[in-house]
Amino acid sequence: MRDIHVASRVAGIDLSGIRKLFDAGGPDAINLGLGQPDFDTPSHIKEAAVQAIRDGHTGYTANAGIPELRNAIVEKFRRENGLSFGQEQILVTAGGSEALHLVMEALVEPGDRVLVPDPGFVSYTPLARIAGGRVEGVPCDETMHIDVERAQEMMDGARLFVLNSPSNPTGMVESEGSIRAIVEYAMDASVTVVSDEVYEHFVYERPHLSASRYGDDVITVNAASKTYAMTGWRIGYLAADERYVNQCLKVHQYCQACATSIAQYAAVAAYSGDQFAVAVMREEYRARRDLLYEGLVSLGYEFPKPEGAFYMFVPMGQDRIEEAVKQGVLVVPGASFGENAPDYARMSYAASRETLRAAVERLGETG
Ligand SMILES: Cc1ncc(COP(=O)(O)O)c(C=O)c1O
Repeated sequence: MRDIHVASRVAGIDLSGIRKLFDAGGPDAINLGLGQPDFDTPSHIKEAAVQAIRDGHTGYTANAGIPELRNAIVEKFRRENGLSFGQEQILVTAGGSEALHLVMEALVEPGDRVLVPDPGFVSYTPLARIAGGRVEGVPCDETMHIDVERAQEMMDGARLFVLNSPSNPTGMVESEGSIRAIVEYAMDASVTVVSDEVYEHFVYERPHLSASRYGDDVITVNAASKTYAMTGWRIGYLAADERYVNQCLKVHQYCQACATSIAQYAAVAAYSGDQFAVAVMREEYRARRDLLYEGLVSLGYEFPKPEGAFYMFVPMGQDRIEEAVKQGVLVVPGASFGENAPDYARMSYAASRETLRAAVERLGETG
């Protein structure tokens, strides 16, 4: 076979190991590995999509998104986050993933330092590397929250600081003091904060506070994916200073053109319609968190109770991680999320209570 030539910045990146792990599980495996809601998209949102198809909204839309959706997002920021954006500061993307990609492409020069949480969401490092950035991981403290002092020490000379609260994979929610401090340190060091808030509605102890409240060099990334159980619809957005939006728009225009028209109309219904379904999902996640946490504590695991998202990051140790997977409880090893927590594993409680009870029982059998 002839050799093919590909760019080294891409060749050096691995596909996420998470899928491979799931393929290893047998047919009766209990999958606590998935990072997506197990709920269906609320029906008024689906209906809006069907109506959009009937109305013939099937062509390209404005690159930045349909005005109705950008307005609905502006309104959402006002209502939920106490922030006032103009429509021109919103760019609708194909999920939060595309928004993260656009920001990296538009802001990172080759060799720029990009600070990402470690442990952190699997996409930050590859996306920063594809953009030519040099990634450095910001550690957690012993409570699994961002180590704000370390963050401050690392800030000088960096280009971006990626903040993710509530966090995937730790499930922790940062306090107002930490968010404010990070944004202020970043401003002093001329570092742009990218605040990934896709889990903002799944908080169980303290409120979610948007980083953009504390400074203006913040790019907020969010999505309909988790909030409205819409991962497959691929709707996300970024909100920022219009000058950032205009640069990100260039990358978006040439690689994506626009987010799916039908999904954009569905998202208008999501953001401007009844929010009751979100509260129902939050309360169900809270009950599942309590159930799984109590189950794990009863098995002898000791770790701080997660405060948000739908993940638990559990100090299991290598033997127990391997044993759990062998027994058919699929968890994601900490090594998937960076270098700092190889002995941890992420469990998702976006699974029914019955499934979670069965998982705890099996983990108990593994000893
Ligand atoms: C922290 C975080 N940010 C962004 C995303 C991407 O979300 P989307 O499906 O909207 O691209 C995910 C998905 O798992 C995530 O966990």
